[in-house]
Amino acid sequence: MDRIRLTGGYELNGTIPISGAKNAALPLMIASLLTDEPLVLTNLPRLTDIATLARLLAELGVEIDVMNSSGEWETLTSRTEGRLSLGADQAKRLAGFGPDTKYRPGGRTLRLTAKKIESTHADYELVSRMRASFWVLGPLLGRCGEADVSLPGGCAIGTRPVDLHLQGLEKLGANIELDKGYVIASTKGGLKGAEIRFSMPSVGATHNVLMAAVLAKGETVIENAAREPEITNLAECLVAMGAKIDGIGTSTLRITGVDKLHGAEVAVICDRIEAGTYAMAAGMTGGDVTLTGADPALFEAALQALSAAGVTVDHTDKGIRITRSGTPLTPVDIVTQPYPAFPTDLQAQFMALMTMADGNAQMTETIFENRFMHVQELARLGALVSLHGDRAIVSGVKALRGAPVMATDLRASVSLVIAGLAAEGETTISRVYHLDRGFERLEDKLSACGADISRLPG
Ligand code: UD1
Repeated sequence: MDRIRLTGGYELNGTIPISGAKNAALPLMIASLLTDEPLVLTNLPRLTDIATLARLLAELGVEIDVMNSSGEWETLTSRTEGRLSLGADQAKRLAGFGPDTKYRPGGRTLRLTAKKIESTHADYELVSRMRASFWVLGPLLGRCGEADVSLPGGCAIGTRPVDLHLQGLEKLGANIELDKGYVIASTKGGLKGAEIRFSMPSVGATHNVLMAAVLAKGETVIENAAREPEITNLAECLVAMGAKIDGIGTSTLRITGVDKLHGAEVAVICDRIEAGTYAMAAGMTGGDVTLTGADPALFEAALQALSAAGVTVDHTDKGIRITRSGTPLTPVDIVTQPYPAFPTDLQAQFMALMTMADGNAQMTETIFENRFMHVQELARLGALVSLHGDRAIVSGVKALRGAPVMATDLRASVSLVIAGLAAEGETTISRVYHLDRGFERLEDKLSACGADISRLPG
């Protein structure tokens, strides 16, 4: 297994291109299941999660082509004994690790065509690797009236149930049973519009139920829907495919079902979590970094927290410029909450920043109950953090020291990179596969700005 090795103490100076958002790309790819025409997606990031989902979609019957550097389509899926699949080499290529993959910024363009759904079975082997795969359930039900989908896995940051997904789909008329770790869902006569009120604004349940409702008969109202920008990206994609959705960007989505959707071309929005992560890295090390393509409107709460900490945030025509020179970091308390508040996916990174603040800062995590696993690893670098239920109190220290640490989940692992960049001496991070799920060529982007960071093949 690969590891990341880095020597801390260098300022970051330069430009970091921000990739397309993983959390938007995944539901957009899944939306291809809803039509027999091609869905073209631009600005897709090179990540293992994208490859994992592409493999699952291929098994369901989605043909996948990638646009090569000459602007021509190359087919990634192939057929053996009648079954469509995406081979290991092609998956590697999608993840950005193929033989031709010297890092070049700029997203990928994929064409996904589900002429015919060939299987409605989403197997444990792939769904357990990534929770978002579970979201194929809604569109499969909408288009085919049946699906059996493994219960999901994903980052171990809490119990993460799927009750809201299932309740929403049941309201639309799905009959749902659980058997041997699978959700077996079917409809008699197709899904029918209904009024659904989520008890909490779940991102995944909103994606799943929204994709089911666009092909249901009649009107569906989703109340207390999540409002994350990635949901807006999906809803706008569905509208471009012919869906009728009102209230996009609000917590009440009104969907009028249509008989059929058609193809479209849609761009993946920029990754606000990746942008926020590099903003915090630059705040931590000091220096001057421009995050090109980053849209400040998508993560205002995080940028405000950074400014309050004493990091200078400027909006430029290229993106966001982050600078800090010399001044100590001011402690800032944060509370993670649904969008537009401070995102849970930046909590670990902000905690890393606060480990060197001039005083105590409190991080309150209200979204996931087990999202403090980075605390013990940060402690190995010399951070002082005490845990009190859903709160962590970070007591800033003058210096961190490099150490071997272990990545525990996607966002936690990148907090170790941020802390390591400011620590004295060498840090090695094992279980880097967590990072590769969600951060495109992290070591290339950081070393281009002066960080001493490299990948040690394992
Ligand atoms: C998505 C994001 C993840 C982010 C999270 C919250 C993707 C691929 N993942 O995850 O990066 O951290 O949103 O912004 O986009 N819940 C239930 N029952 C359900 C569903 C959720 O109780 O049926 C709870 C969860 O346990 C959690 C909270 O709701 O406590 C929010 O989860 P949710 O918004 O669904 O997160 P994900 O969609 O899994």
